Parts: sequence; structure tokens; C-alpha cells
Amino acid sequence: MNDSNELPNVVMPHCPHRNLLRGQKALVTGASSGIGKSVAVYLAQEGADVVINFIGDKQAAHEVMETIRSNGGKSISIQADVSSEAQVQAMFAQMFDNFGTIDILVNNAGLQQDAPFHKMTLAQWQKVIDVNLTGQFLCAREAIREFKRRGVVPEISSAAGKIIGISSVHEVIPWAGHVNYAASKGGVKMLNKSIAQEVAPYRIRVNSVAPGAIRTPINQSAWETPEAYNKLMNLVPYKRIGEPEDIARTVTWLASDDADYITGVSLFVDGGMTLYPGFAEGG
Ligand code: BGC
Repeated sequence: MNDSNELPNVVMPHCPHRNLLRGQKALVTGASSGIGKSVAVYLAQEGADVVINFIGDKQAAHEVMETIRSNGGKSISIQADVSSEAQVQAMFAQMFDNFGTIDILVNNAGLQQDAPFHKMTLAQWQKVIDVNLTGQFLCAREAIREFKRRGVVPEISSAAGKIIGISSVHEVIPWAGHVNYAASKGGVKMLNKSIAQEVAPYRIRVNSVAPGAIRTPINQSAWETPEAYNKLMNLVPYKRIGEPEDIARTVTWLASDDADYITGVSLFVDGGMTLYPGFAEGG
């Protein structure tokens, strides 16, 4: 078997600008860093106008917005806590004032608050469920209301709207020490599949993208030292960490009409993390 150190860790350059999303209006939650930031930039590269939602780091959100604008795209940033019904509704109102409607929602905002189970506080449990699960519910509900009101606009997209929820391999892999997080992602899985079933007759597509270990601030301790990185590779058959671009490309494709017949799936983008790597030998 190859030592992970012998394998290159590069993601090949992407060939964007097919204008797959021309004329579409997208909202990406938690778009000031990590996966959300990369998704926002990729959607814009394909021609979408993009709302950058953020909670705290205004400067970082502005930088993402400026990146998009300097490439000729339209972008605004809106501060909102996705777990607050009032703030989510105000954010959608502001988006509709600026962009008129929504075609693509990427429910990305999420966080971890880790603790051994016997020490986990109710506040830690609640915070993670509120942001990761209730946040996706609140944003999806506003988007679905608009998709149903407006319906299909054939010049824009074959679908009346698309929702992509960022889940995790932990929607199926149990995770000791992270019980609140795994429970929230298990919830995201069934939230999105159930919405998908309900709204498919309206030509609305709802899917989850389930990343494995992606190089972002949320899991920095798992990749920042060579020791940690090599340990992480025991869990990744493909022997490289994922990059935010791996997720951004998948989300962009799922949002486009190239994926028009796909709804209700969880698409794992994880270098094989969900393949039970421990069983590569033995069993
Ligand atoms: C978590 C990361 C973790 C990865 C794989 C993600 O959903 O946020 O912290 O590295 O799953 O375990």
C-alpha cells in the first residue's frame, strides 16, 4: 500500500466559465470562510449573483464579495444568525430587494462544539442543533416559499429552485466526543430528503453534499501538523485531505441543470471516508 506521503496532494485546476448558472440568484450561508467561501466564488464564476451570509467576520465577508465583484460578478453580503427566525426572514427580504428572487440556496453555515458526552452541556447541545439543523430548516423554508410562489422560469433553469444542504460524513458515521454534531448532521440528512420528497412535484430539487475531512478552520487540529495529518490519512482511503474546492465544484454542478434529475440524495465527497477503511485489511 502507498504511503500517503508519496502521493501528491493537489487538486487539478478547474475549467470554469461555462456560465452554467447565468442569471441565477444564490444565497450561501456561512460564506465568509471555509467551504462556504469557496462555494460562493465558484457559483459566481458560473454566472450566479451571490449573497454572502456571515455571522461575525464582516471583513472576511467583504473580501469574498470583492473577489466576486473583481471577477465581474454581482454580490452583496448580509449579516444574519441562521438560527434566528427574524434574522433569516430579514435576510431573505434584503436579498429579494436587491436581487428580486432566489434560485439557489446553499445551506452551509455550521459549527462544532465538542465535548465528551458526560460533560456536554445543554448549551453546547442546543447551539449545535440550532445552527446546523434549525438554521437549515429556517433558510430552506424561506427559499421554498419563494420557489413555490415563482415557479419555473425556463430561461433561467429547468427547476423552480435548488437547495443544497452541506451535511457531513457524520450523517452516517457515528462520532464519539461530537455527539451534538453527528446528531445535527443526521437530522440534516432526513430534513433534506423529506423536503425533497415533498417539493419534487413543484420541480424543486433538494440535495445534501456530505463532505469528509476538508482543509478548513473547523478541523485545523486534524491537519495542521504532519503527525495529525498522517493520522487523519488512516481514515481516508484516497490519501489526501479534501480542499474546499472539491466541495465547491460538486455544489456548483448539483445546483446546475446538468444535475436536473437529481433530488433527495446525499452525495459523499470524502475520498472514501465512508468506505469503512478499517476493513481494507481483515474483517
Ligand atoms: C467535521 C470535521 C471532520 C470531518 C471528518 C466534518 O463534518 O466538521 O471536523 O474532520 O467531518 O471527520
